[in-house]
Amino acid sequence: MNLLFFSFSAILLVGCSFSDEKEEAYTLLQRGIPQYDNQYVTVGFIQTGKESDWRDANTNDFLTTFTKEKGYNLLYINGNSSSERQVKAMYDLIRQRVDYIIIDPIVEDGWDDVIKEAYDKDIPIIVTDRKITTDPSLYTCWIGSDFYMEGIKAIEWLENYLEETNSKDGNLNIVILEGTKGSSAELGRTAGLTEKIALHPNWNILTSRSANFTQGDGQTVMEDILLEYDDIDILIAENDNMMFGAMKAMDRYGVSYGVNGDVITISFDCLYEAFEKMIEGTLQASIECNPLLADLTENVISNLQQGFEVEPIYYSEEGVFSYKNAAQYIDQRKY
Ligand code: AHR
Repeated sequence: MNLLFFSFSAILLVGCSFSDEKEEAYTLLQRGIPQYDNQYVTVGFIQTGKESDWRDANTNDFLTTFTKEKGYNLLYINGNSSSERQVKAMYDLIRQRVDYIIIDPIVEDGWDDVIKEAYDKDIPIIVTDRKITTDPSLYTCWIGSDFYMEGIKAIEWLENYLEETNSKDGNLNIVILEGTKGSSAELGRTAGLTEKIALHPNWNILTSRSANFTQGDGQTVMEDILLEYDDIDILIAENDNMMFGAMKAMDRYGVSYGVNGDVITISFDCLYEAFEKMIEGTLQASIECNPLLADLTENVISNLQQGFEVEPIYYSEEGVFSYKNAAQYIDQRKY
């Protein structure tokens, strides 16, 4: 696929002048075109922002993997939770003629033009974490998690838990705190969750609302929900940080949760803090989403540097952890 990519790119590298609009975008992060030291492979890394602890772990992983010692000059760009800023940053990196661009996209849509621009300029793009809807033949590969399967795994865990513990009978009321709308992590998890929930005629989704993957929104959105509903059986938050915020809201409103409480709690990511909460019994389960994607990404770039072909898709390995096995695994956690 990459051999194809390179040969087509070579043909398309003709008459490439930038429009005024794009030219304006280029000035966002960098004025003038810097000269990069050729002894290093220059890699631009466009991150989503700093919405969660998962994200910090992911950023840190890239910063500590793409080092000068390994031959890389990494240009880290914080997207500040703005898709527009992410796209502008990519135009800027294209203008600077970096060797590779890695993007962790906030949302799936809106990438077509800038990816085509990178393709035309022969700059390989590696998409990590979340996906984009752009034609995959225009970028090198995608590396990340199967978010849909994560949603399915959450409900499978819940089904087993209810069967084993016989804890809830009759109709079950579920609340879902969704991640950032339009992001693959939200789209995939919500699809997996709702498809499996729909198979249970007596399970009812009371409400499903976005809290943007942040702890602050997790708390405020949950506070609003608690003002409207007093019959919640199950709370599913599409990341651990939103669950931590929701726990504060439930504490504030005197709602008990966890193994010895009224509300069953399930979230995603498997942060170290989630393990602590599973051990104390306030969080029943967390579905793993691995932020440590930099090694795989570096491997891909190293292969491309040597002229090897790479796969179009790489999935990371992920498990499911609960209050039952958290104590056994907490010491092995890396984030
Ligand atoms: O895209 C992965 C998601 O983004 C993680 O679940 C969340 O914590 C992060 O912000």
